[in-house]
Amino acid sequence: MRIWQNKAFFALTLYGIILGASVYAADPPKKNPPQKDPRQAEAPEPGSPGDTLTREDARMAYLVYKLLDKDGNIIGADLARGAKSFYQNCRPCHGEDGMRVNFNPGGIPEFIGIRARRDLPTFWYQMNFGDEERRMEAYIDEIPVDEMRDIAAFARTLP
Ligand code: HEC
Repeated sequence: MRIWQNKAFFALTLYGIILGASVYAADPPKKNPPQKDPRQAEAPEPGSPGDTLTREDARMAYLVYKLLDKDGNIIGADLARGAKSFYQNCRPCHGEDGMRVNFNPGGIPEFIGIRARRDLPTFWYQMNFGDEERRMEAYIDEIPVDEMRDIAAFARTLP
């Protein structure tokens, strides 16, 4: 009786193992499919049909990724040219020393120099695309990008 029961038990167990193995063999659990590293994806040529960056993205990417070194310094700026261009384009509103427009009225005053030193992407964004509500002009069609780089470097020397 016992033996018979054991045999039946073993037979059932064996059947279970075979069944499990065949199910596994028919459909083995999938490993995670290999993931592509997005950083290694082929970048489309700027301006090509595959290039989906907006004008804003493309400009900001260039300024932030191509013109800043790993310490956040602006690469290859010409300060004298930046000063000239600043006086010509920005001084009328922002003032000789950049302190005529305070971006933080009611708080600790913040001027163009502080913005250029502490938050260059914002500085660049504002210079390129402006802010209609705040009456800051957009210069993307007025000032060539290498001159913007120079203005930013000069602005960093202002208070
Ligand atoms: C017609 C006047 C005018 C001219 C010219 C001008 N700006 Fe402005 N700018 C403003 C005003 C007004 C603001 C907004 C101030 C505010 O809202 O507090 C502003 C804001 C900014 C800001 C945003 C700061 C922030 O973080 O909020 C930056 C950066 C800036 N200007 C850079 C420049 C640069 C660089 C030039 C020259 C290429 C320039 N501006 C020329 C009037 C001007």
